[in-house]
Amino acid sequence: MNDMGKAALNINYPSGFVMDTKVNNDSAAPYRGEQPWGMPKDLVIPRALDEDERLWVPVAPNTWSRPLHLNTSLGYYVHILKVTRSGILQRHRHSGPVHAYVIKGRWFYPEHDWVAEEGSYIFEPPGETHTLTVPDDCQKMITLFTIFGALMYVDPDGNSTGYDDVFTRIKKYREYFEKIGLGADYVRNFMR
Ligand SMILES: [Fe+2]
Repeated sequence: MNDMGKAALNINYPSGFVMDTKVNNDSAAPYRGEQPWGMPKDLVIPRALDEDERLWVPVAPNTWSRPLHLNTSLGYYVHILKVTRSGILQRHRHSGPVHAYVIKGRWFYPEHDWVAEEGSYIFEPPGETHTLTVPDDCQKMITLFTIFGALMYVDPDGNSTGYDDVFTRIKKYREYFEKIGLGADYVRNFMR
């Protein structure tokens, strides 16, 4: 939409977004105060899709997890799941919400009539049980997941068979990083 179109819609931009960077005065200056004491460090992961195999932790056959953010005080984790096989991966129930973005390939839940295609954003509500499945015509699936709470693995009747949460993930990542020589504490790079 061009500027004339925006004017016709009469959009009011939030004031913080309107800075005239051509004017050499304080209105376009960066914040120069202090950050609050006790604030965690920011977390920046360049090239999150790099193929560096040391950072892709095997969690199942042909299935890898690359940790991005492991949050122990709010109980969530952000990771990229990469799968190079088709079929059912796992059946699970969520205690918290999940946000997903499909970077490559596709997957679906047989409990639903939609398919998570490349480029899709998906919200999974807390309480939901579903069966993550990669279709036969998909050779490589890559998805960014933000998972709050626990992923409880269940049988088809919903009986619990195990679980994963940020703490079981940290344990797995620690074991792997130790084994490949990065050291178990390498996981701290992703923890907040
Ligand atoms: Fe799920």
